[in-house]
Amino acid sequence: MSLRVDEVPLARPVLGEAEEHAVLEVLRSGQLSLGPRLPAFERAFAARLGVPHASAVSSGTAGLHLALRAAGVRDGDEVVTSPFSFVASANAAVFERARPVFADIDRRTLNLDPAAAEAAISERTAAILPVHIFGYPADLPAFERLGLPIVEDACEALGGVHGDGVPVGGRGHPAVFGFYANKQLTTGEGGMVTTGDAAVKERIDSERNQGRAPDMSWLDHDRLGFNYRLSDIACAIGLVQLRRLDEMLAGRARAAAAYREALAGIEGLELPCDDPAPPARERRGWFVFVVQLPRGVDRDGTIRALRNLGVQSKPYLPAIHLMSYYREAFGHREGEFPVCEDVAARSVALPFFPELTEGQVERVAAALRDVLGQA
Ligand SMILES: Cc1ncc(COP(=O)(O)O)c(C=O)c1O
Repeated sequence: MSLRVDEVPLARPVLGEAEEHAVLEVLRSGQLSLGPRLPAFERAFAARLGVPHASAVSSGTAGLHLALRAAGVRDGDEVVTSPFSFVASANAAVFERARPVFADIDRRTLNLDPAAAEAAISERTAAILPVHIFGYPADLPAFERLGLPIVEDACEALGGVHGDGVPVGGRGHPAVFGFYANKQLTTGEGGMVTTGDAAVKERIDSERNQGRAPDMSWLDHDRLGFNYRLSDIACAIGLVQLRRLDEMLAGRARAAAAYREALAGIEGLELPCDDPAPPARERRGWFVFVVQLPRGVDRDGTIRALRNLGVQSKPYLPAIHLMSYYREAFGHREGEFPVCEDVAARSVALPFFPELTEGQVERVAAALRDVLGQA
């Protein structure tokens, strides 16, 4: 891929000398996996969220898989979830031969609509899997009232806070975070499951490590497990990233505020929903800046035109139920979830990372105005 020198990239991790130093220390220690950084990272992450337990895993997807297993999801069960998410949230149910049952989203927050989720519950529903999409907290109190096990997909939502002041991932349900390179905190690849339940942590710790219990001898396994471990190299990077998390979140919030100002007044353009006015304390953990283009605009043509002006962007996110695999495996078709389909057809992620400058934001905004004929 040939990039223009002055291209505004879509995402960029913030890594520095502290991470380099931490990685070198692990390499020199010789303990590259299952060493001391693993419990240290887990404890620091749990403390940050004010939750009793955390289990580090190799990816957000692995965390979702283990969290659904720990919630008791099995062959033939149903998991009610959002069709407007990254495909992994639905795939995790399919891994266990459960059926993801989609319900439409709320037009303001783009999260699973609690009323639609309630209507999708059947006697086979084993869990509800809300996704905190684009870092905006899902309405957990409403899902909690439905009385079913909950697994939270918080892969995009580190730093988010619910309206009652509880951090996303701090409510005690298994909540899964992702540390891929575009996330608020990155270890390259990786993930974390937080939980209030010691038994859930014990099961996830065992199943991520081939089904071995902590007190069992090497190569003895009393249950089915996987290799979903996170290396000590990754955990060392995670520990450093955690120390600078506030600064990185503040950078993203600054970039979001700059976009809000720079994009104001573009006719028909919809921006990410505002956090509600005080005293509500709901807060987005800024992850991406996704806009919905005015109705009738050619989205893919807009993305191509932005690229020609040196600005990366991408369609984000496509509706899961309309992906080929989901159409074929579960018989989905257009028109089932109209809000999700409308949003998915118009959404574009703009360049977004903590070190994005005001000048770059202005360049992106100018390019978008230009392409939309509103310069
Ligand atoms: C909403 C959502 N769920 C799940 C995942 C999967 O995480 P990972 O890529 O770490 O497996 C991601 C991130 O990519 C995501 O954005």
